Amino acid sequence: MIKIAILASGSGSNAENIAQYFSTHKNVKITYILSNKKDAFVLERAKKLKIKSKVFSNKEMKEQVELLNLLKVEADFIILAGFLLKVPENIIEAFPNKIINIHPALLPNYGGKGMYGMHVHRAVKENNEKETGITIHYVNENYDEGAIIFQAKAALTKDDTPETIAEKIHLLEQEHFPRVIDEVINS
Ligand code: GAR
Repeated sequence: MIKIAILASGSGSNAENIAQYFSTHKNVKITYILSNKKDAFVLERAKKLKIKSKVFSNKEMKEQVELLNLLKVEADFIILAGFLLKVPENIIEAFPNKIINIHPALLPNYGGKGMYGMHVHRAVKENNEKETGITIHYVNENYDEGAIIFQAKAALTKDDTPETIAEKIHLLEQEHFPRVIDEVINS
């Protein structure tokens, strides 16, 4: 069995979608959902999905030891699904090309510190972009700069709002993220 741990900070719609996709998978198991936010809705989803979960404070995440030890036992791959902290360097070193993130824009545009969730969609709207999309990429020590694995685009019109942009992104994430993870880990 290939073990996946998911790290998430927020609602967890991606985490749930990934968990559902792999729930009947022959050689992949979601072992843990980990969060840095004790009130993140993703923890409710983990309960419902009967997946083990654990909360690490931002400080504990940075101190790394306990988290790294857990990941070494519980994960072959780490998936960031709306995880808003920088991944500690020790963890990146211990999991080379084994950490995958999803970003709600077409990197290298709209990436970097502070560019997450609705901040991204508002910036896309302000610049009157004609398209946006999702980027699935490996994680390295710099925000949003690891090698790109997959991108998908959505066309935008002048009537789109940050909220409708978020919906379009959400649909792309639901459609592609689990399948791309499956391809990467089984290739
Ligand atoms: C997703 O849109 C994901 O792409 C984005 O946060 C959202 C989490 O939604 N990630 C980032 O912005 C990372 N920079 P979810 O909690 O419902 O899966």
